[in-house]
Formats: sequence, C-alpha cells, structure tokens
Amino acid sequence: MSASSESNFPDHNGKLYLETVGCQMNVLDSELVAVSLRRQGYQMTSDMQEADTLLFNTCSVRDHAEHKIYSQLGRLKYQKRRRPRLVIGVLGCMAQKDQDLIFQRAPHVDLVVGTGQLAEVPNMIDDARRRGRGKSDSTKSMHSGATAVSLGRRDGSRQEVSGSFQSYDPLREPDSRPSRFQAFVRIMFGCDKFCTYCVVPMTRGPEQSRPPGEIARETRVLADQGVREVTLLGQTVNSYKHTVTGRQYRLADLLELIHDTEGIDRIKFVTNYPRDMGNELLEAVRDLPKVVPYLHVPAQSGCDHILKLMKRGYSTAQYREMRERIRAMIPHCAVSSDFIVGHPGESEASFELSMDLIRECRFKNSFIFKYSPRPGTKAYNLYRDDIPEAIKRRRNNEMLQLQNEISEEDNAEFIGQEVEVLVEGPSKHSQKGIGVDGTDKAHLQLVGRTSCDRIVVFAGTHNLAGSLTKVAVHDCTATTLIGNRVSQECKPESSELLPIL
Ligand code: SAH
Ligand code: SF4
Ligand code: F3S
Repeated sequence: MSASSESNFPDHNGKLYLETVGCQMNVLDSELVAVSLRRQGYQMTSDMQEADTLLFNTCSVRDHAEHKIYSQLGRLKYQKRRRPRLVIGVLGCMAQKDQDLIFQRAPHVDLVVGTGQLAEVPNMIDDARRRGRGKSDSTKSMHSGATAVSLGRRDGSRQEVSGSFQSYDPLREPDSRPSRFQAFVRIMFGCDKFCTYCVVPMTRGPEQSRPPGEIARETRVLADQGVREVTLLGQTVNSYKHTVTGRQYRLADLLELIHDTEGIDRIKFVTNYPRDMGNELLEAVRDLPKVVPYLHVPAQSGCDHILKLMKRGYSTAQYREMRERIRAMIPHCAVSSDFIVGHPGESEASFELSMDLIRECRFKNSFIFKYSPRPGTKAYNLYRDDIPEAIKRRRNNEMLQLQNEISEEDNAEFIGQEVEVLVEGPSKHSQKGIGVDGTDKAHLQLVGRTSCDRIVVFAGTHNLAGSLTKVAVHDCTATTLIGNRVSQECKPESSELLPIL
C-alpha cells in the first residue's frame, strides 16, 4: 500500500478481487479501474478469500448475466458478517440500471457505481472502509452503502444526462491488461439507437464520441507500451462522429488518423450498426493495410416484421445490400453477426428467415442469444414474451448448428494456405505446461488470430507471443484453424542473400 493509505487503513491488506462479465466495454472499464487502484497500492488477486476488496463489474443485457451476479452477492452475506472490513462493490451496467435495488437484494454491498462514475471508485472504497470501521455491531445488518450513478435518460436535458456520464479513460498500464500486445481503445460510449429489447441506452447513457486527438494520443501511448493491435470500441462504433474546429471526423477519418502510429500493426473496430456502414468506411478498410478485413455487423433477425418490432431501423433488403457491398468492395472480408432467437412474435417462419439470412451472408461466426425480457425497455412494456423457453432453446441450437457448419466449411478453405497470425500466447490447453522446464524453449500450443479474426493454434515457443508469424494451415474445426509455423529460418535473412537473376 502507498504510505498515506497504509496509515489511514492499517487493517486492510490491499488485495483486490475484480470480476468482469459483459462486453469488451466492460473489460476495458475493469482494466481502467484496476489501473487506478494499483496506483493506490492495491494488488490484484484471483482468490476471493484472500481479497479484502471485492468488485463486480456487471452486465444487464440479459437476465442470466444479472442473475449470476445476484447469486454471487447472496453468497457473500455471511463472509461480510465474519469479515466486516471486507468492501463489496457492484460496478457497471447493473449498478446504473438497478441502483437501490441492489441494496434491497444485498444489503451487505458497500458501493454501487454506474458506468459513468467509475472514476469515483477509489475514493468510495476508502470511504466504505472508514464507514465500516465506525459501524457498531447493531448496525451491521443494515444497508449503509454508497451510490454513484448517472442521471436516467429522462431525468434532465440531453446535455445534463450526457454530462452525468463521465468518460473514464485515464492513462494505460501494460500490467493491468489481459494481453500486453492487444488493447481496447474506447472511441465512443453510450447509444441512441434504442432497439426495443436493449438496456444499453439506459446503462451507458447518450451516445458520445471522444475527440480524435485524444484517441490518437492514447493509441500512441499504447504503441509505446508494446501494443501491436488496437480494437476501437463503441456500441455502434461506425456511428462515430466528432467535430473539431469545423471539421467532422467519422470513423473512416479516425482510422486514417491513427493508421500510421508506429508499432501498431493491426486496427480493429467493434460493433458496427448495419445502417451506418457507409462506403467511405468500407474504402478505409479496403485501402488502409493495418485495418483488418473483419466486420462485426449484427443483423439480429432475418425477418422484417421482427426487425420492425425491434426498431432496428433497417430492413432485411437493406442488410443484404450492405452485405453485398462488403463482398464487392472487400471480397476477402470476414463478416460476423449477432442474432436474437425467440423475440416476441417470432413465428417458425420468421425464424426460418433468419436461418436463410445466415445461409446467404455466410457469417464467419454469429453470437446467438435467446430473447430475454429486460425491465425498463420498450419491448418489456409493449410485447408479451410469448415464445416458450423450450422453443427458444431449440431455435438457439438449430441456429448454432447451421452457423457451425458454415464456419467449418469456410475454415476448410484455409487448409493448404499460409496465414499471418498475431500470436497471443499459450492456448488454454497449454497453460498448464508453462514454465515446466523454466525456459522459453518449451514447445507449447500457441494461439493467435489471422487479420480476419480467425483463431489459429500451432506449436511454438513462449517468445513468439506478440509477434506476427506465418502458419501453414493443415486442419480446422468450426472455430479454429490448426497449423504449423512456417519456419522463418529457411528463408533468406536479407535481400543480399537473394540470388541475382
Ligand atoms: N451494440 C451492439 C450490441 C450490444 S448488446 C449492437 O447493436 O450490435 C450485444 C448483443 O446482445 C446484441 O447484439 C443482441 O444480439 C444481444 N441482446 C441485447 N439485448 C438482448 C435481450 N434483451 N435479449 C437477448 N439478447 C439481447
Ligand atoms: Fe442496444 Fe441497439 Fe444500441 Fe446495440 S444499437 S447497444 S442493440 S440499443
Ligand atoms: Fe452488458 Fe453493459 Fe456491455 S449491459 S453488453 S456490459 S454495455
């Protein structure tokens, strides 16, 4: 611990357990919270028993994600009684959405901090510790937690509500990232699309784009820290819009601005909104070599009636037109999607239309979700959740099976080819083998990705992590290309060795 906090709280060991669920935005938020707490002397631990600060960065997008967190919190009730110094915090989307409901369901929680208030976390932990120390036994079962949340979407003018969601993008540190070579960069936050089923416009607030100069600076800092691949994040990343001294920057301009950052080899961006997939952006993907040929553009449904109920703002014909434009302009581009099955009113025929769309679009992969009614959304108020769970499950499985067949067929096309892979490190299977002989030379199963986001496994050594390497693909599954590293040693080291023809 730092000197000052040590003297303030000699009774806390500074061990932090931070659990994250939800999307990449949450992973980034957790990284940034971890950076600020590490700077105060906290050490991360994956052992809840050892930690005296437990933080849960939460997601509200489906009921299941919330349910898991509430059960976790429930289990902590007795721990908190036994260890009153323990500080328990709920951060993120569920905090913003449920607010006091969290204290009602789990009175032993000390802090509830929404997505727009994450900068407050360190002080709030200190305050909670102080309050906890002063608390007498008789008050221990009562909720005395603190809340920091942003305004609701209807609780003020747009400017006031936007202002209450603070962008939280402090400086970055390599040790707080899951990977040293890859990093997320937030370019916008919030969402104004208001798809009827979705809580995100409530949990993340109004759509706001960060200034391009700030994003370029952050990318440079990351490159200096050894990052080779950045993934730009936004709920609808291709809606990015920021005006600086009269010039409007869209995502295509931003990609151009950061493209030449030295040290960065790959630039990705997620998630795209179909209607905002303009030609300028596709040209940027086609023409800027570091921008990867991979686009995640969720369709959600292949049925116009359902898309209307979802208020997605496009028809299946418009989605198909967009998919064709991608094919025509960037033929080798991989496209992936999200689908919701069992949305209210989804008939067997509607579901089959979604299956047809998958067949036609040949997505690299699709994330498939069963519709989950979310209190506070339009769909929750207007539509009855009329598709039984068993049917949702069956549709989910059928769709997954179809997508897997397509993914495997497309992956099979790579057999016999060489692909360039950014090596992420040992695969999960290999993790156990790390350091067995204490050297870098131990052969491991490494995992990396091609520029079109395909996962590749191959044998290699630790020291390849973070490098770009060539792999010859000899086999595949629906999710993975399997290959051998193409030996670099048998290639000429420099052009001087090339035979003169
Ligand atoms: N901003 C992104 C997606 C954010 S949420 C976009 O617009 O594409 C990630 C995915 O969760 C969505 O694409 C959708 O498929 C799914 N999802 C969102 N709300 C849901 C709900 N109520 N039930 C089931 N799936 C949902
Ligand atoms: Fe949710 Fe729709 Fe916004 Fe995506 S675009 S975050 S699905 S409201
Ligand atoms: Fe979940 Fe919030 Fe992301 S609701 S999907 S963590 S924006």
